[in-house]
Amino acid sequence: MKEKIITKKILKWYDLNKRSLPWRKKVSLKKKQYYTLISEFMLQQTQVTTVIPFFNRFIKNLPSIDSLAKINEKRLIKLWEGLGYYSRARNLKKTAKIIIKNFDGKLPNNFEDLLSLPGVGNYTANAILAIAFNKPNIPLDGNIERVLKRYLYLKKKKEIQKDNLLQKKTIFGTTLRSSDYAQALMELGALICKPNNPICNQCPIRKNCRSFRKKDFTLTKNIKKNKDKYFILKVYKKDQRYLLIKNTKFNFLKNLSIFPMKELSNPKNFNENLNFKMSNMNMNIKIQYSKDNQKFSSAYWFDRKKLDSYMLPSFTKKVVQYLEKN
Ligand code: ADE
Repeated sequence: MKEKIITKKILKWYDLNKRSLPWRKKVSLKKKQYYTLISEFMLQQTQVTTVIPFFNRFIKNLPSIDSLAKINEKRLIKLWEGLGYYSRARNLKKTAKIIIKNFDGKLPNNFEDLLSLPGVGNYTANAILAIAFNKPNIPLDGNIERVLKRYLYLKKKKEIQKDNLLQKKTIFGTTLRSSDYAQALMELGALICKPNNPICNQCPIRKNCRSFRKKDFTLTKNIKKNKDKYFILKVYKKDQRYLLIKNTKFNFLKNLSIFPMKELSNPKNFNENLNFKMSNMNMNIKIQYSKDNQKFSSAYWFDRKKLDSYMLPSFTKKVVQYLEKN
C-alpha cells in the first residue's frame, strides 16, 4: 500500500474511534504545549487509563509552566504520589524552570533544545514535536513499534533492532495532520493492534498487513530480564510507629521516605520475605526487626494510622502493609 493511502486510512479510523483524553481537548496553543509536556512525562512509564486522573489533578493544581516552576518539592511529590518513578516529577519541575529561564517561558519547538531538558529523551522529544507542534515526527513508542513489527512482519533479531525500526517507520508516510497522526498510530496500537488479541477485523490497514496475511500475530520479545537485587530492610517499631529515613543512599526513590536498608551484593541462601519490582530491578527483601539504637540522619517516626493520608512511595506502603499482615 502506498504511504499516502495508509496515512489516510489510519487518520480516518482515528477520527471515528479515538478516545476522548484530557490532553487531547481543544485548548489554546500555549495550553496544548503545557498539556503535552505533562502528559508525555506521565505516559513515559505509566498507562493511559492510570494517567488520566493524575493528569487532571495535576493541571488543576498547576495550570501553567510558571506555577510548575514555583511549586515546592513536597507538594509536587504529593501530586505525583501513586504514579511512581518520582524522578520524572523532579525533572518536570527542573524542565519548567529552564523553560522560563532560557526559553522565555515557551516550550522549545526543535529537537536539540528539547533534548537539553531534564527528563526529555529521544522519544519524548519526538512526541512533543509531533503532538504539540504538528511536526512530521513519529515517536516510536511501544504501541507504534508493535504496529510496525506486525505490519511488516519483523520478527528476526536483526529486524527488530531499534535502528532498523527507526528506518522502517517511514512506511507510515507523512501528512499535514502530524499531531493527530502520531496519536492515531499510538491509538491503533493501543486499541486494535493489541499485544495479545489484536482486533484485526477492525483494523484499517489489515489488507496489506503481512502478519494478517500469514495469520501469525506473535511478536518476538526483546528479553530484558529484571536484575535481581538483594536488600536487608530494618524495622524499628515503637507502638504504632515505624522508623523511616529520607533516602539519600540509593538511586531509586531519591529523597523519599524508606525503611533503613542495605544492599547485599551476592548473598548465599537469601530467604526473602518480600519481593518488589521497581524500574528494571527485581528487589528481594529480607526483613529484620531491630532494637539497637543506631543513629540515622533524617530519621523520623511514622505513625501507621496516617498511612492513607501521608505521602509515602508505594514501596514503603507495601512494606508497612506486609508488616501488619505478618
Ligand atoms: N502514549 C504516549 N503518549 C501518548 C499519547 N499522547 N496518547 C496516548 N498514548 C500515549
